[in-house]
Amino acid sequence: MNILCIGAGYVGGPTMAVIADRCPDHRVTVVDINPERIAAWNSDTLPIYEPGLDEVVLRCRNRNLFYSTDIPRGIKEADVIFVSVNTPTKTFGAGAGKAADLQYLEKTARSIIEYAESDKIVVEKSTLPVRTAQALSRVLHSNSKNLHFQIVSNPEFLAEGTAIRDLENPDRVLIGGMSSPEGERAVDIVAGIYRRWVAPEKIITTNLWSSELTKLVSNALLAQRVSSVNSISALCEKTGADIDQVTAVAGRDSRIGAKFLKAGVGFGGSCFKKDILNLVYLCEFYGLPEVAAYWEQVVHINDYQAARFVRNMLAAMFNTLAEKKIALFGFAFKADTGDTRESPAIAIARQLIDEHARVTVCDPKALDNARKDLRDLSGKVEYTSDPYAAVEGAHAIALITDWKLFRDLDYARIYAAMEKPAFIFDGRNLLDGAKLHGIGFNFYPLGKPALTHF
Ligand code: UDX
Ligand code: ADP
Repeated sequence: MNILCIGAGYVGGPTMAVIADRCPDHRVTVVDINPERIAAWNSDTLPIYEPGLDEVVLRCRNRNLFYSTDIPRGIKEADVIFVSVNTPTKTFGAGAGKAADLQYLEKTARSIIEYAESDKIVVEKSTLPVRTAQALSRVLHSNSKNLHFQIVSNPEFLAEGTAIRDLENPDRVLIGGMSSPEGERAVDIVAGIYRRWVAPEKIITTNLWSSELTKLVSNALLAQRVSSVNSISALCEKTGADIDQVTAVAGRDSRIGAKFLKAGVGFGGSCFKKDILNLVYLCEFYGLPEVAAYWEQVVHINDYQAARFVRNMLAAMFNTLAEKKIALFGFAFKADTGDTRESPAIAIARQLIDEHARVTVCDPKALDNARKDLRDLSGKVEYTSDPYAAVEGAHAIALITDWKLFRDLDYARIYAAMEKPAFIFDGRNLLDGAKLHGIGFNFYPLGKPALTHF
């Protein structure tokens, strides 16, 4: 089979690499309108950092995995087309700030009908509002060539940093289609790709609308867990309870489960906020304002948590951050990725600058993206990948990303290099507080009692 993927981003790139790896007899082509992205996929430095990705791409590239800007040819030759173009939150017009911007999806559909010469299965891989398949089908069937398209929804559940593991060993693969014979055949063809390496009981088929909605709901439920725990971390700080103890015990209830209960400075990433706002917009659109308000609160708590973190820093450091040097440990939205999209580090850095602090950003993989995110603050922020350089003369460290390397540093050396009193604000509860307090730091974890020398 000829498999085409339109959109060579965080979703399309790794997903197609694993499909090519597991299906050596299928020819997989990934196209994009961005020639630099395609050049990077064809180079030694892939455009995204993802553990294990390089090995998979090297095994398959130019064997049965191809990256190209030739979109017309890709469409012409394809039997199955995965669409994984970006669907960001709309920044203009009706639904601005909430609804998904579907212009890239619709342009892709128009390219398909322009260049297709045969019937095709079109697979929605991007996360989309429920019932997008209906609009997509209408655009595709407006063609004058009497071509037929089957729309299948196959949302991607991979998490960044573990993308290859998630793709190779997924909890489930979801495929939604129409309940007509042609629809069922299309679902079976797409399921056949995954059956090469995924156990049949993990491949779940549903109707199209359930599949589209399940992706939004899965992300909303995960984000809701994080906001729930973060909201309780604020109460812990007021009452002397310890959030890690509370969640460890609550998570032992098998109905609650232990995963995804880690308090932090807030969730980031390209999906959670975007998908919840998309869900909020859909609820408003369908006349369900109470449901919309319920889910919107998950995002409000997330913004509150980052702002609260900065307010706590300000209060602990004698109500002034002006001219103080703050080392931000981490800028990526989580460990093991260079991605900074919606990272809480962005809001935190900006709020610190608003307080006239001097900010030095330290991250092993995300400095290029950090520079772009804060480009309007040039001159006010410094960047380094060396934590020991970042803390030179600093008044405080604010740990934002749970990179393991921050746990393994020589904190006695760091203490010696910092201004006194020296502060650490651990926004991920990553560090050994008792040890750091012993060295001399005033240590402020999240959702548990501070360890100070005052
Ligand atoms: C998420 C979903 O997990 C994935 O299934 C979906 O396909 C895309 O969105 P991703 O955004 O890559 O994946 O990262 P994830 O690991 O889910 O983390 C999201 C954010 O939540 C990160 O900022 C992370 O630090 C934060 N988080 C996660 C917490 O603060 N606490 C937790 O317990 C878990
Ligand atoms: P995601 O995280 O969903 O993968 P990305 O922004 O990383 O999103 O990737 C989406 C990719 O889709 C981008 O590289 C973008 O250039 C590409 N793209 C957007 N519109 C089109 C289009 N009409 N044709 C081909 N590629 C497109």
